[in-house]
Parts: sequence; structure tokens; C-alpha cells
Amino acid sequence: MSQLIIRGGSRLEGETDIQGAKNSVLPILAATLLTADQVELRGCPRLRDVDASARILRALGCEARWEGENTLLVDTRQVQGCAVSDQLCREMRSSAIFLGAILARCGQAELSYPGGCELGPRPIDLHLSGLRELGAEISDAGGVLRCRASRLCGREIVLSLPSVGATENLMLTACGASGITTIANAAREPEIVDLQDFLTACGARVFGAGTSTVTVEGGRPLHGCTYTVMPDRIVAATYLCAAASAGGEVFLRRAREEHLSTVTAVLREAGCRVCSGRGGIACTREGGLSAVRPVRTAPYPGFPTDAQAILMAALLKSRGATVFEENMFENRYRHVDELTRMGASIRVSGRAAVVSGVRSLRGAPVRCTDLRGGAALCVAALAAEGETLVSELCHIDRGYEDLVRDLRALGANIAREEAELPA
Ligand code: EPZ
Repeated sequence: MSQLIIRGGSRLEGETDIQGAKNSVLPILAATLLTADQVELRGCPRLRDVDASARILRALGCEARWEGENTLLVDTRQVQGCAVSDQLCREMRSSAIFLGAILARCGQAELSYPGGCELGPRPIDLHLSGLRELGAEISDAGGVLRCRASRLCGREIVLSLPSVGATENLMLTACGASGITTIANAAREPEIVDLQDFLTACGARVFGAGTSTVTVEGGRPLHGCTYTVMPDRIVAATYLCAAASAGGEVFLRRAREEHLSTVTAVLREAGCRVCSGRGGIACTREGGLSAVRPVRTAPYPGFPTDAQAILMAALLKSRGATVFEENMFENRYRHVDELTRMGASIRVSGRAAVVSGVRSLRGAPVRCTDLRGGAALCVAALAAEGETLVSELCHIDRGYEDLVRDLRALGANIAREEAELPA
């Protein structure tokens, strides 16, 4: 089993590039089905979930091939079939994002119900109710979703909560619907804006992304384009928290503070010096860290749930106690037990977790429980005395192109030991 070996206790110093955003490239890969031309996606991160999306496109008869390190060429001209196998759907939790695009392109779609994940149940009821409002007939017998739509007609849809995935799915479906669709109470994440920018580059007429109302003038033929994916704000937040945790000075090229201002605000409150410029973000932490006011996760522009674990890890040795409130997912404190093994003092009660700063952390063997929980273990390990062994790296590989490369560039003492393959 592969593992990371992290030797903590030394300050960070260095620069690194921030990879393309996982949560932007996944819906954009689904959106390539809306055009029969070739799409060139630049800045595409090499991630397990991206590979899984490419496999879904190939299974549908499309071409999806890497050109160079981070450029993915997609050509859906030869698309055939509209069904995604159960095995492929299970490989990537967010395969549901393909539903709307396949339906818009092929008039029908068949996917198995995406399961829950480590974070708890991941319902898609808002996706399905929105698709039905646009004219889709959907049956879900035996865990398989079968969708049909002889005609998709635009209309107003009001989401009962600002779901990122539902907003994206309905934007893509609306591109294939005749007339105008407005999505009210839409998610406002930067990844939604990136999807709108990609669709616009393909000739779609989509407006309002980043606000609570997104409007799509559907039924327009879309052409191919060359598009560069936005930088990953949660990867950037991870490395800012790494600098806060270990101390030192880092510069993250391509990171955009407007995408993670709630995270940088908390890091400043804790005692870091964070400034944007030169096309990136610099973070310096010299003195000790202080606890901060309660951190409540919320839909964008609130504090991102994906940064909860990594900020918690950065504050384990801060002076005082910080209260976290996880409001987005039911089961997003699974990293706490592992952090406790390193000497952290954290009490969880329902949606709340109280982190009391300790004087020191010690390296220990720990296991990733989920993607961002795994990253949090690495952030904590940088501030721990001695060596930490991090296993179950498949979780980290879903969202970080090369954590070792990036943290080494920032001065961390980290290595990856690949498992011996059985003879
Ligand atoms: C996206 O998930 C991200 N994933 C998640 O990142 C992120 O944590 C989440 O948005 C919130 O920002 C991708 O973009 C691939 P939601 P998504 O629909 O779309 C409930 C990571 O680590 N809900 O905004 O699934 C849902 O249960 C991942 O990169 C319904 O009830 O998030 C959750 O409680 C983890 N019904 C809340 O809404 C629905 O139909 C937010 O979910 C849809 C969602």
C-alpha cells in the first residue's frame, strides 16, 4: 500500500504552481458532449476523477486523449449510446453531472444511481426534479436512472438549496432545451462561473453565473473551443494552510484570492500575512497562531466545506480554541480521529467541533478517510515532531495532481513510497 512519509518541524519556503480545478474540469468534461466539434482543455489536472470522466466519454464512443502534460483533447463527434455502466458510475461520485449533457445530446440517458460517499448521503433529488421540469421523463428502477426527453423546453426552475451539482447539471441540460431557462437560487461557486465561461466559448448564451440566478438561452448549436481551466481554489487553500501550519513563507502561482477570500480572511485573523499580487498569493507565518472566531461552512461565498478539514489541521497548535460548524455534509469530521492520533485536542458534537490548541503534535501512522481529510493529515504532519506515515492515498489522488511535488517545492520534507506489487 503506497504511503507518504512526512517529517515535520521545519518551516516552509518556496513557490509552486496551482493545478487546474477538479470541481471545474469535471462539469466541463460533461459539457463537451454539447458540441460535436473538438474541444482542447488546457490546464487539466491529472487526477483519478478526470481519468474516470475521460473513461465515461470513451465508453460513449467519444475520443478523449491527453496531449502533453495537462492538455486533454475531447472529440464527441462519434458519440453513440447513452448509457454509462454501473462500474464507471461508481468510479466517480460525481458521475451524475453527465446526466443532463447526455440527455441534451442524445435525447436519452442511462446512469446508475450515484452512491453516497465518505461524506455521507449525496442525494440528487434536485437534479432530477429540475430535469423533469425541463421535460425529461425519468424512471429509477433497480438503482438505474433511465431518462428520456423527446423535447426539452426551457422554463423557470427554483432550487430549494443552492446545489453546485444541480446548478451545473441544469445549465447543461438547458443548453439543449428550446427557449429560455432561468435557474433561481443557483449555486454561486467560482466553478459555476468557469462552466459558464466554457459554454460561452462554445457559443452558448449563458448569463448570471456567480449570482443566484443563472439564465440560459437554449437550443443553439455549439462549436468547439480551446479553454484553460481555472486554478483549484481548494488546492490553493491547502497549501496556504500548510504554510500556516508549518510556518515560513510560500508563494502560490496562479492562485486567485477572490476565489478563497473567506479562507484568507481566517488565516489573517489567525496571524498569517497573506497578500495577493504577481499573479498569485503569498502567505507568511512567523510568530505563533491564534484561535479564530467560529468557522461555519456554507455555500459560496461562505466558508467552503472543502477547506474545513485543512484549516482545522492548521490550527491544531494555535493559542486558544476554535469552534467549527460543518453545515454542508453529515459526516465530514472523519479526519478528527486521525488528527487525534497525532496529539490534537478536538471534541466533536453533532455538526460542531471544538479544536483546543496544543503545545506540540507528534508524527504517527494515519489513514486518509476522504479527499480533504487526507490533505488535512498532511497539513498537520508538517507541524508535528518526527515522522508521519499517511496511507490510503487513493483519496488524495482524486483531488491533488502531485502533492509531493508541490509540497517539496514549498520546502516540505515529504516522500511517497509506492507499495510493492505482489509477485
Ligand atoms: C460539489 O459537490 C463539490 N464536488 C464538492 O466537493 C463540494 O463539497 C460541494 O459541491 C459543496 O461545495 C464537485 O463539484 C465535483 P452540492 P455537490 O450539490 O455538487 C445536498 C470535493 O471534496 N443536495 O452543492 O455534490 C447535498 O446532500 C467535493 O471536491 C441535496 O440534498 O454538492 C449537500 O448536503 C466534496 N439534493 C448539499 O446539498 C441534491 O439534489 C450541497 O451539495 C443535491 C445536493
